[in-house]
Amino acid sequence: MSAQRQESVRRIAAPDITAQKGKTPIVCLTAYTAPMAEILDQACDLLLVGDSVGMVVHGLPNTVGVTLEMMILHGQAVMRGSRRAMVVVDMPFGSYEGAVEAAYENAVRLMKETGASAVKVESGPTIPDTIAYLTRRGVPVMGHVGLRPQAVLVDGGFKAKGRTGAERDRIMAEALAVAEAGAFAIVVEGVAEGLARQITEAVPVPTIGIGASAGCDGQILVTDDMLGLFDWTPKFVRRYGDLRGEIAQAVANYAADVRERRFPGAAETYFAKLVAE
Ligand code: KIV
Repeated sequence: MSAQRQESVRRIAAPDITAQKGKTPIVCLTAYTAPMAEILDQACDLLLVGDSVGMVVHGLPNTVGVTLEMMILHGQAVMRGSRRAMVVVDMPFGSYEGAVEAAYENAVRLMKETGASAVKVESGPTIPDTIAYLTRRGVPVMGHVGLRPQAVLVDGGFKAKGRTGAERDRIMAEALAVAEAGAFAIVVEGVAEGLARQITEAVPVPTIGIGASAGCDGQILVTDDMLGLFDWTPKFVRRYGDLRGEIAQAVANYAADVRERRFPGAAETYFAKLVAE
């Protein structure tokens, strides 16, 4: 066996994630770049190249403007940076809702061009058919129910879901249909604890919560939110760092050093001794 093969690490795959249901909580975060993926890889079971990249990295107002090409570029970067965690790439708005054949073509492009192991689609009345079509053709699919960020223009904002009994029934029915269609796991976003627990009990695959309480089989957050990169975060985010403050302080220190001619010093200068002699 070659040294390269001995060193290779088996990536976590869709069946491994499904098998974690009811055993160990599934740890997931979003990732968009190679260096961040490298840092997150050891601690996470699953890295999601979320279409939130449009808002987090590209400054878009929502995820509707995210393209397949953007998802491919970020998917490639995350695959290069990670070795162990399962990588799932979001199918962006407009790439899977029109026809199952187009969804298949786009999902295959995402998987072939990035090397990622699965795609994620947000739910809707036609989506179980799409998930069934994709999974029967070898594309592992993660579902996404509850608050659907790609429906922001229909919903008029990012609003928690399940305020009425009818809405809760619809979300539960969607989750059941997504699982029945063959999804290996389901993101549950922006719902109350009671509904999250009911869905988790009802479906045979793991639920991954975001703003959906501890009643799910796993959790996901937008990494930049939990690292404290933004001055505002939604209620459901716990900040595990203050990167915004640390970066601002580091940049202020750098600016002061440049202005006071303290940077660069001898340690950061080539052949500094030669010049001094
Ligand atoms: O795009 C994304 O980051 C997501 C998560 C919020 C689940 O879909």
